[in-house]
This record gives sequence, structure tokens and C-alpha cells, in this order.
Amino acid sequence: MSTEIDPKKIIAEVSGHDIDQWVRTAAFKPEVEEAGGSVLSQAFICENCNSSPNSYQSIRGHIHQELTGWLFFRKLGADCSRSNISLHGFARLWERSAAECLADFKWLEKYLIARGGRSKPTSIEATTFEWPDNPIEPVGPCKEAFFVEKKLLEDLERLCSLADKSGDAALTDAIQSRFMHKETRHVKSLGDLLRQVVRVSKQPGLGIYLLDRELRDSDGIVPWDCNNETLQRGDDPAEV
Ligand SMILES: [Fe+2]
Ligand SMILES: [Fe+2]
Repeated sequence: MSTEIDPKKIIAEVSGHDIDQWVRTAAFKPEVEEAGGSVLSQAFICENCNSSPNSYQSIRGHIHQELTGWLFFRKLGADCSRSNISLHGFARLWERSAAECLADFKWLEKYLIARGGRSKPTSIEATTFEWPDNPIEPVGPCKEAFFVEKKLLEDLERLCSLADKSGDAALTDAIQSRFMHKETRHVKSLGDLLRQVVRVSKQPGLGIYLLDRELRDSDGIVPWDCNNETLQRGDDPAEV
């Protein structure tokens, strides 16, 4: 005996549902998606960037941080391209950092949608940071850049523990596989850069030119970045 299906009935039943709610799993809780609107308006780029608030821990909070970081790195890159400064290797490094922030933002926005969330753009605070050009002083901006990168990593760590607490294994996996490894390496590489910049700045002039030339030769890739790769060639037992 065949069961009669009324197509109109099933169409009416499904079309009345919020499919995003069906896509969402129980672990994808509102606090994982967004920590609350007001926190997003807090200034991100500050003098003491190492004292970061806890409140950014949400996917939208991190999206906001990536966009603010994008604007900050774009500004550094533009400053380094000015004739007064003319540090084109550094300019490429900051342009790469900005492009990475933008790519991470796009990825997270897609991820949010894939989990049944929705995109809610927030205003980005304009950075007030300027690369000093009289005299050209690279330590301050490189320190600022280091802490911007570190704040991104710390925010991801908080997001990861929130995902753990919520039992959202999919989000934990997404953050770990996409971000944790590379951002840890970036923080170390920018820490190394800061040390090198301090080293060559003790006597102004030639040192920063040579460091910039190194960055120019590698098109803005920090030359020692691969040395900070935790998994070296041959370490993987599968390769032996
Ligand atoms: Fe990032
Ligand atoms: Fe990064």
C-alpha cells in the first residue's frame, strides 16, 4: 500500500521553517556567535595592546578584530611607502599582514554563515597610528604591529576555550586547523623582527636599510618565518 504524500503540505511545512535554525547545532550558542554589541565599539588599537579585554571572545568579535587589524596594517604599509620613509620591504610585509587579516575575516564570515549565523558588519575604528618620519623610528611601529598580531592570537585562544566550554567541537577544530598554528608562528616571527629592529636601531642608518632590503628581496615575507615552523621537514613520521 503506497502512502499518499501531499506536496503542498510538505512545501508549506518546510517553507514556514527558519532553515538557518535547522543548520545550527545546539553547541553553536549565541555567546559563541557574538559576545554582545557594545564590546565591539571598544578601541582595539591602544598603547598598551598587551592588556587586552576578555570581551572579544566571539566569532563576530574576532571578525571585528581582523578588520581593525587589516586597517592598521594597511596604514603601516602606506606609511612605509612614502618617499620620506621609503622602506619598501617593510611596506610589503605590512601589506601581506593586511591581506592575511582580510582573508581571515572572509573565511570567518563564511564559517559563520555555514553554521547558520548571519553577517552583521560593525564599524571599524580608524587607526591613529603614524610611522614616525622625523626621525624615522621603526621600533615603535614594529612593537605596535607585534601586539596587534599577538592580540589576534590571544583572542583566538579565548574563542577556542569558549568553544570548548560550549562543547562546540566543530568550532574548536575550525579555529585550531585554520588559525592556531600559523598565528603562533606569526607572533614569533614578528617578535624576532622586533628584536632585529631594536638591534639595528642602536646605530641609526645602515642597519634598517639592510633589514629592509632583506624584506624587499623576499617580497615582504619575514626571512626567518620558515625557521619558526614547528613541524620541520623530516619531523613528520609519515615522511620518514
Ligand atoms: Fe588572522
Ligand atoms: Fe597572522
